[in-house]
Amino acid sequence: MQTCLLLSHQTASLDMAGINNYAQDLDDADLQRGTHRELIGGLWDEIGDLQYHFLRDQGLKPSMALLDVGCGCLRGGLHFVRYLQPGRYVGADINASLLRAGMLELQHAGLQDRGATLIQTAAFDFRSLGRTFDMAIAVSVFTHLFFNHIGRCLQGIKQVLSDSGVFYATFFTAPSPLHLEPISHQPGGIVTAYDKDPFHCHPQELAQLAAWAGLEAELIGDWAHPRAQQMIAFRHA
Ligand SMILES: C[S@@+](CC[C@H](N)C(=O)[O-])C[C@H]1O[C@@H](n2cnc3c(N)ncnc32)[C@H](O)[C@@H]1O
Repeated sequence: MQTCLLLSHQTASLDMAGINNYAQDLDDADLQRGTHRELIGGLWDEIGDLQYHFLRDQGLKPSMALLDVGCGCLRGGLHFVRYLQPGRYVGADINASLLRAGMLELQHAGLQDRGATLIQTAAFDFRSLGRTFDMAIAVSVFTHLFFNHIGRCLQGIKQVLSDSGVFYATFFTAPSPLHLEPISHQPGGIVTAYDKDPFHCHPQELAQLAAWAGLEAELIGDWAHPRAQQMIAFRHA
C-alpha cells in the first residue's frame, strides 16, 4: 500500500499565475459540486479514456514511470494510476486547487493507496523529483501556453526523460508558422489565436523549439480528439 502524495514545489522563478484561465482557485464547495471537471474542459470520460488508450497503443506498460504534465484534476490521471504499478504516476500542475480535486477523485475511485505523486509547479522544473520518466504526456496544455512557456516545458522534460523516453503533447494546428489569423477548428468549434489562449501553432514551430531544447519532434497528427487537437511526440535528439 502506498499513500498518494500532494507536494507543493514553489522554487519556480516564473510567475505564470494569471496567464490563462487556470489561475482560478476552486474552493471545497466547488470541488464537492464537481466544478473542477468543467474547469479543465469537461468531456471527462471521453478525453480521459482517449489519452489512456493512446498511451497504451504507444506501448505504455504497468512498470513504466509516467509524468502527466498539466495533469489538472486527473481526467487522464485516474486511468493511468489504475493501470500503472504503485508509485509510477506523477502529475504536475500549476493549479493547487485542481491537484486537491485530483486527490479527491483518487479517493472516490478507491485509488488513494496507489502511490500517485501530485506536484504543484509552474515552471516545468521536474528535477527535484529526482527520477526519470519512460513516458510523459501533456493533453490540452500547450493549447493554453505561450511559445516561451512551451520552450521551458520542453527544456524541463528533456531533463527528466529517460534515454528512450517519449513525451506526447497535444496542440491546435495552424496551416503555416506565424499564422496570425484566428482559426475555427472542427469538430468542436474551438477558435484559436496565434498569441491568445487558446493558442494554435504550426508543427514546425514546435519542432524548432524542441531542437533548441535538444529534442526531436515527430508529428502524429489526428488521434481522434473530439475538439480536433493534434498530437506530437518528442524524443531525445
Ligand atoms: C485543459 S486542462 C487539461 C488537464 C489534463 N491534462 C486533462 O487532460 O484533463 C490544462 C491544464 O494545464 C494546467 N497548466 C496551465 N499552465 C500550466 C503550467 N505553466 N504548468 C503546469 N500546468 C499548467 C492547468 O492548470 C490545467 O490543469
